[in-house]
Amino acid sequence: MRITINQIKEMKQKGEKITMLTAYDFTTAKIVDEAGIPLILVGDSLGMVVLGYESTIPVTMDEMLHHTKAVVRGTNRAMVIGDMPFMTYHISVDDALYNAARFIQEGGAQAVKLEGGVTVAEKVKRIVECGIPVMGHIGLTPQSIYQLGGFTVQGKTPEAATRLLEDARALEQAGAFAIVLETIPAQLAKIITSKISIPTIGIGAGIDCDGQVQVINDVLGSYTEFVPKHAKQYAKLTDIISKAVTQYYNEVKAGTFPTDKQSFSMDESLLAELETK
Ligand code: KIV
Repeated sequence: MRITINQIKEMKQKGEKITMLTAYDFTTAKIVDEAGIPLILVGDSLGMVVLGYESTIPVTMDEMLHHTKAVVRGTNRAMVIGDMPFMTYHISVDDALYNAARFIQEGGAQAVKLEGGVTVAEKVKRIVECGIPVMGHIGLTPQSIYQLGGFTVQGKTPEAATRLLEDARALEQAGAFAIVLETIPAQLAKIITSKISIPTIGIGAGIDCDGQVQVINDVLGSYTEFVPKHAKQYAKLTDIISKAVTQYYNEVKAGTFPTDKQSFSMDESLLAELETK
């Protein structure tokens, strides 16, 4: 049985920290699931860390569904959350509902995430009413990067901080089961976390959120184009991969790979017969 939204909400009540990581493929998702991470986000960060786009804006539903299916196949226990891409929930409630349903029905996810607060509350409400769990996402919302003017800290003025609290409350009211708080002052995240009943999952939002989320490539050190301040590299995979690939290159060139250990042999008598032909 996979982790449920009730279990996640209970973790806040019990003061148990919630861990969440992104994953985009079968192999990585399997490792993350087996490590016991309860929430796996197939983030639209896919666009940057896997597909090489400059932002998350070009990511399509088809790309997200393709990767969501792979992550679902690699997991048994974690709740898989599909990240709704740019403009797939903005135009109308019907559109939002249709695309959220695709994540569940075609992708096999158990929940969806979307960016925004007050402005998307009506859509969140309708999606939840139709039985699809929704995770909110406020603060630095990368799909609005052009409007925000860059990957900058949000909620720093009294007005902006108040708006974020209103956004969090609107999402809670609309039935979201948790909210990602991205790149906001730690003190503001602490206040929001104390004022709502659903869990907050922080990324660049300090220690007092109910949980934390990171992009797996940041944690593993496998995406070096841009390393955000909030990221901690628990490994330097780029170095390990580069070393292995270089060694392979050198061994093939030197004629030292493959050895007998990586080769297959045939029956001696068959070989003798072949040689007479
Ligand atoms: O797309 C993503 O990976 C995200 C997380 C950073 C929360 O939205």
